Amino acid sequence: MDFGETSDLWWKTAVVYCLDVQTFMDWNDDGIGDFQGLTERIDYLAGLGVTCLWLMPFYPTTDRDDGYDITDYYGVDARLGHHGDFVELVRTARDRGMRVIVDLVVNHTSDQHPWFLDARSSKDSAYRDFYVWRSDPPPDTSDKVVFPDAEDSIWEYDERTGEYFLHSFYREQPDLDITNPRVRDEIAKVLGFWLELGVAGFRVDAVPSLLDVAGAEPALGEDLDPHDYLRSLRAFLGRRRGDAMLLGEVNLPYEDQVAFFGEGDGDQLTMIFDFMAMQKMYLSLARRDARPLADTLLQRPPLPVHSQWGVFARNHDELTLDKLTDEERHEVFAAFGPEESMQLFGRGIRRRVPPMMEGDPRRIRLVYSLMFSLPGTPVLFFGEEIGMGENLDLEGRMAVRSPMQWSEQENGGFSGAPPDQLKRPPTAGAYGPEHVNVAAQRPDPDSLLSFMRSLVRAYRESPELGWAELHLLEQPHVEVLAHECRWDDRRLLLVHNLGPEPRRVSLQIEGGDGIDLVDVLGEAPCTLDADGTVHVELDGYGFRWLRLSPVGTKRIW
Ligand code: GLC
Ligand code: CA
Repeated sequence: MDFGETSDLWWKTAVVYCLDVQTFMDWNDDGIGDFQGLTERIDYLAGLGVTCLWLMPFYPTTDRDDGYDITDYYGVDARLGHHGDFVELVRTARDRGMRVIVDLVVNHTSDQHPWFLDARSSKDSAYRDFYVWRSDPPPDTSDKVVFPDAEDSIWEYDERTGEYFLHSFYREQPDLDITNPRVRDEIAKVLGFWLELGVAGFRVDAVPSLLDVAGAEPALGEDLDPHDYLRSLRAFLGRRRGDAMLLGEVNLPYEDQVAFFGEGDGDQLTMIFDFMAMQKMYLSLARRDARPLADTLLQRPPLPVHSQWGVFARNHDELTLDKLTDEERHEVFAAFGPEESMQLFGRGIRRRVPPMMEGDPRRIRLVYSLMFSLPGTPVLFFGEEIGMGENLDLEGRMAVRSPMQWSEQENGGFSGAPPDQLKRPPTAGAYGPEHVNVAAQRPDPDSLLSFMRSLVRAYRESPELGWAELHLLEQPHVEVLAHECRWDDRRLLLVHNLGPEPRRVSLQIEGGDGIDLVDVLGEAPCTLDADGTVHVELDGYGFRWLRLSPVGTKRIW
């Protein structure tokens, strides 16, 4: 691979770990996680093999949307620490080989942000046009709201000035107008600020909504292509820090997503979450049929060489199934979230992976093996590595945001505060801290944590997973996904059985008899015939990662 004059493309093979500082580790025992606590736990994350931390919003907030409603883009929520603590974290992470990226939430501010307070004080406010206003009554927009439990319109009437303002999310989150050059300048300064403090990039919140300027007056009368804005944001980022990246939330079908990567080497978002593969993965798991996932992977558009897919099984929101047909969604609901209390907004599931898999360790491991084996960069959500469950007693999406479970102690070792002072209680029951915690799993070679550590190591030892395109291999079993990732002279063969019955899979591989097979995750035998057929034995819900190297070359584990 010729890297030419490009800068470091570290994100192509990163292992990303998403966490919310306020629920990770509380060091001063006030019930809220803090930067100091996170810094104390950096070695744990380094031990897991994480190479990039994604911090969910830690800025001052009114907490209407768990921090996604920001009142000061330059601040650190005082309950979590201050800028000094932030810098200590970034420095400690860097020392352990970990980069830090932070959430960039600029589709909207909080309605308590000084810009909006000023904007709504008068139609003549200098900040009025930071936001999107209309004077005539809006049409019915109930089909456009993101949170149908709380909103029925994306326009809210402002009593004082007698106009309506746009809010794609909650009404307490007025949308910024990115067609306004002053808004663009302010956003650039926010990026510049955190880059100076050492961050390696941003997870960009709600990108399609950010670029959707419908309702906004084209600035300066120009014909506006909103993607020009994304392009200029990326160019600015590159000027300030050459290897910084933008990881975008763009939950759209592939054909619409691809525009957000941009042209050439990829001049817009560096990386985009693969929401399509995620949703089809659950459909495949529910059906015990690999074909929906396989078909979707084949539809992935080719990416600019510097761009990447962010592959995930679970994030901090509802597990959205919005891109499935109604029928498909109901199949997944029936399999993994049958009760109404487990579902959200009619489109998603508010559970974590292990309870969805009914606690079956084989199937839980299958999900993560599959996720790490799909070409792209894996993104873990905190607690997945130990198999945490959700807390359905918490409201809406908060069910999957209960505190990290460190030990069997009170509050799961997350905090020494009295339990009723916790920001959010841990899960109780089968997935509670007495059963699921880091301390118990660390020394246990058979724990999920130990498995996840090997998986992360295998991923890091296999750069072809970050760089390769996917090749599906023909084989007759519908419950099996067999694919190969090939990059340079490296090849990895990945075989997953989504069904409960054992399967013997025979695969014809190129270059057959001159190949040496190495089992990357274990020592299970497999055979290679002289004609180049590999025979792989899979248990029910079993999987294998096999490295194929030409006989006589240096062995890679
Ligand atoms: C994104 C975030 C979500 C948040 C919303 C509004 O979708 O993932 O948690 O509520 O944006 O900021
Ligand atoms: Ca604290």
